[in-house]
Amino acid sequence: MPVEEATISVMDRGFLFGDGVYEVIPVFGNKLLRLDQHLSRLQNSLDRISLSNPCSNEEWAEMFLHLLSKNDGEDRAVYLQISRGIYPKRDLGTKAEYPATVFAMILQVVPPDIETVSAGISVITIDDFRWGACDIKSTSLVANVMLKQQAAAAGVEDAILIKNSMVSEGTASNVFIIKDDVLITPPTGHKLLPGITRDLVIEIAKNNTILVEEREVKETELYNADEIWMTSSTREIAPVIRLNGDSVGSGSAGPVWKRIVDLYQQYKQQLRSM
Ligand code: PDD
Repeated sequence: MPVEEATISVMDRGFLFGDGVYEVIPVFGNKLLRLDQHLSRLQNSLDRISLSNPCSNEEWAEMFLHLLSKNDGEDRAVYLQISRGIYPKRDLGTKAEYPATVFAMILQVVPPDIETVSAGISVITIDDFRWGACDIKSTSLVANVMLKQQAAAAGVEDAILIKNSMVSEGTASNVFIIKDDVLITPPTGHKLLPGITRDLVIEIAKNNTILVEEREVKETELYNADEIWMTSSTREIAPVIRLNGDSVGSGSAGPVWKRIVDLYQQYKQQLRSM
């Protein structure tokens, strides 16, 4: 149905508590990017909040293809949200008897054009005050909203979040640094979302003999990095050119970024023509 006609109950736990999880799956030429990986991250999010998966992977795939067929466009994204459903009373306690609420829509993501992306973004570092379960792709995003507000108030596009002097991630993306041609990114765990773009970038790098290290990254390493990138399904691979007001590396998108972004575009093109 048209999105403006879709409604949910005010008693939905997604609305009352942010008690739900979600996924954003990019689509290129009507092909879902890394669907299996997105569905396995979805399963992990559901397991972590003890909510059973209302559909099989085949059913999800069928639903997404149906949704895509009902909407125009080539490059876009599927948004999927599952909440713990509608209970008669507002109560934190959970019961398995009420069905989950499933909502999916198409996001008309405008693919960032390469000239705009290569201009780079400015970011600040902010203390990561979020909870210890950032690997769950939860719809409870108020902390991320506050962090994004802080970045906007500082006049920059985004923030790199720092927990105990270590880099965790962005407000809605993962972080990479490049030092002496080695790609370095914090390891997955409870401190960050295991980004599908992150994994794809690591895979592309390794397949092209670029060295990759998944290890803790100190905040101080940011200030000595040759390049910094932020990655996500919607942002793809964004080069950071200013950090806390100072230039990163040469102050423009770096050579390793150019290499990886070309390979990433080739990967997308292959998917479109499959
Ligand atoms: N956000 N970290 C956080 C906190 C995120 O919200 C996201 C993605 C990522 C990157 O994950 P991926 O590469 O799978 O998109 C990392 C999505 C795009 C969003 O909330 O819209």
